Amino acid sequence: MVEIREAESSELAALIPVYKEAYQEHLIFKKKTDADIIEYMQKAHADAAADGGGFIIALLNDEVVGGLLLRKSLQGDSHSRWKIRHVAVMEKYRDQDIGTELLQAAEQKLVELIKKGDFITAKAEVSVAEGEKEAVDFYEKAGFKLEGTRADHYRLGENVYLLGKTIGIQQ
Ligand SMILES: CC(C)(COP(=O)(O)OP(=O)(O)OC[C@H]1O[C@@H](n2cnc3c(N)ncnc32)[C@H](O)[C@@H]1OP(=O)(O)O)[C@@H](O)C(=O)NCCC(=O)NCCS
Repeated sequence: MVEIREAESSELAALIPVYKEAYQEHLIFKKKTDADIIEYMQKAHADAAADGGGFIIALLNDEVVGGLLLRKSLQGDSHSRWKIRHVAVMEKYRDQDIGTELLQAAEQKLVELIKKGDFITAKAEVSVAEGEKEAVDFYEKAGFKLEGTRADHYRLGENVYLLGKTIGIQQ
């Protein structure tokens, strides 16, 4: 039985092997030491939590098998914009809807913040590097729409696909 919930700061280290396996070309997860990675994650988690976001984790029999980071990038009068980053599920547990449930939990979090009155609408955005192109299908199945591409974004010569989903309006 998969449990999806917000991460405690002390649980973030358990995500490091998940990210190292999933993001072998990533600027942070490939190159940095575990100590640097945990420092980055703890700061990102604390910064995001101040706005109601943070890391969300998936646990299977108490083992952390996936996660993502939900982080606010803009707050207007009634509209907010959020980034969903570092989405990953351990390879041996993929294709069991865990990734989709993580995205749904992030969306649910935004719905809760809307109900609380923090804002009326929220736009969630993700970027997918060309090398992870298959993930575009994954996001489209979760209702994200392809909005465009960016060139030379993470690495020279590599495009990035931009996808988004607006929450709080009738689709
Ligand atoms: C993307 C990822 C998080 C999906 O996790 P998951 O638990 O397997 O996702 P789900 O089981 O909910 O959904 C799987 C669906 O997405 C599609 N999909 C997602 N990622 C895919 C990939 N890398 N290759 C092929 N198909 C993929 C599949 O078509 C599958 O669809 P189906 O159910 O019709 O077969 C996981 O594949 C992963 O960690 N990949 C490596 C990191 C990555 O690419 N992250 C996203 C980039 S930002």
